Amino acid sequence: MQNNTFSTLFVGQNLIKLTTVDSTNNYLKILVSKSEPLAEGTVIMADDQFAGRGQQNSVWIAAPGQNLTFSLLLQPVFLPINDQFKLNMVICNALKTALANFTGKNIVFKWPNDLYYNHQKLGGILIENLLSGNKYKSAIVGIGINVNQLEFSPMLAGKATSVAQILQQDVNLVQLLAEICSQIEKGYLRLKSGTYADLQAQYLTGLYKYDEIAWYKQGDDIFEAKIIDVTSNGQLVLEKEGKQLQFNLKEIEFIINNT
Ligand code: BTN
Repeated sequence: MQNNTFSTLFVGQNLIKLTTVDSTNNYLKILVSKSEPLAEGTVIMADDQFAGRGQQNSVWIAAPGQNLTFSLLLQPVFLPINDQFKLNMVICNALKTALANFTGKNIVFKWPNDLYYNHQKLGGILIENLLSGNKYKSAIVGIGINVNQLEFSPMLAGKATSVAQILQQDVNLVQLLAEICSQIEKGYLRLKSGTYADLQAQYLTGLYKYDEIAWYKQGDDIFEAKIIDVTSNGQLVLEKEGKQLQFNLKEIEFIINNT
């Protein structure tokens, strides 16, 4: 294991820093598939990803050396695969807490797992589950956070933000990573001990547009509705004209006015 100064039991204790890689998720997946067992909590972080991947086959672009792009190995073998959204909630809650501790600001996550500040995207999560039959083997938790990047491509202008933009100063990447690892470990150990009671409540409290009337798009239909819940398997529950409707990820879009 490589040494580091994180005050965790296992998350981030084996920290592998790469200069360039296609995607830290891909790299970690290959390492896991090799016969040599890899310690749970291993983190692969890269200065630069030349083929970073995002949700729904999108690309994740981050300026080299300025941002956090890393993947964490977890082995939630104790979790029924139907409960995989619980792991997503743990990671979201942990990132919110870590970033709030670091910035002093109210960071939220847009369902299901985009980090937002002030209607602009601060980061994202790509969890890839490796299953054995219908049981969890491991989860590759890929996290990208805009940290010290101040300028974004014209396509993202006004839509993306960074920790440095929020704080008006640069941030030490490894210190922020250490805080994130510490919060993830706390939440993960609670999940492992079967403590679910406040998990969903905490997730809902941190949810962008929760309990607010906002605009949504489903196909060609644009309508006003209010987020009232997220089901245990991660579906978004909206209240529209007094009716409750449930949506999967690809079925609904938020309309965000960030001009
Ligand atoms: C999203 O919001 O679409 C999810 C973005 C996830 C990006 C991270 S960066 C580290 C890890 N490696 C990848 O290729 N993707 C994730």
